[in-house]
Amino acid sequence: MHDRYDAFDEGQRAVIERIEDLLAVRMKDARKRHAHSLGVARCACYLAKTYGVDAYLAYTAGLIHDWDKVLPEDELIARAVHYRLPIAASPVLAAPLLHGPVAARELPELFSELPEEVFQAVARHTVGAEDMTPLDMVVFVADAMEPGRHGSHADRLRELAGTVSLEELFLTCFAQGLVYVVETGRYLYPTAIDIYNHYVLKQQKGNA
Ligand SMILES: [Fe+2]
Ligand SMILES: [Fe+2]
Repeated sequence: MHDRYDAFDEGQRAVIERIEDLLAVRMKDARKRHAHSLGVARCACYLAKTYGVDAYLAYTAGLIHDWDKVLPEDELIARAVHYRLPIAASPVLAAPLLHGPVAARELPELFSELPEEVFQAVARHTVGAEDMTPLDMVVFVADAMEPGRHGSHADRLRELAGTVSLEELFLTCFAQGLVYVVETGRYLYPTAIDIYNHYVLKQQKGNA
C-alpha cells in the first residue's frame, strides 16, 4: 500500500481507492487537473495533520474538490441555475467559481460514504465563507499550495504552513487570491470583501 494511506484505516482506504478510480476516469482527458487533484489531496492531508484536522476528510475533499472543473462553463451555469444555488452575482459572472458549489450539490449521491463536511469544503474552496471550518480552510489553502503550484504566492504559503495559525494561513491565501483577481482585472465576487474584512478584523482583535 502506498505510504500516503498510512494514516487511514481499511474502510477509509477502500473509499479512497474508489474515489481515486472514479477520479481517474473523470479526468482521463485532463491530466494536469488530475495531478492537481491528487496534489491537493496530499497537501490537504499534510495541512490537516499539521493543524489537528481530520486527515481522511481533508484527503477525500482534496481529491474531489475540482470534480466539476472539467465541465464547460455554460454547463456549470445551467446546473447552478437548475439547482437554484444561492449566487451573490449573476451566474455568468460567477462562472469561474461555480464548480465548487455545483459539485457539492451533486457529489453526495455519488459518494454517500462521505460526510457533509467534505462537501461543504468542496463548495467553499472557490468562494470561501465568513465561517470557514478548519477543514474548509485546509482544503482552500491546499488548493493554492499543492506541489504543482508555482510562484511567490505558493512559496509564501509553504513558508508559513505550520508556523502561523491555520486561520492566519487561510487569510494570507484568501488575500493573495483577492490581490490576484484585482491585479489581473478580473471580476471580484462580491462576498470576497466581506470575507476578507471578517478575517482581518478577527486577526486584529486577536493581536490587540
Ligand atoms: Fe477549483
Ligand atoms: Fe483546484
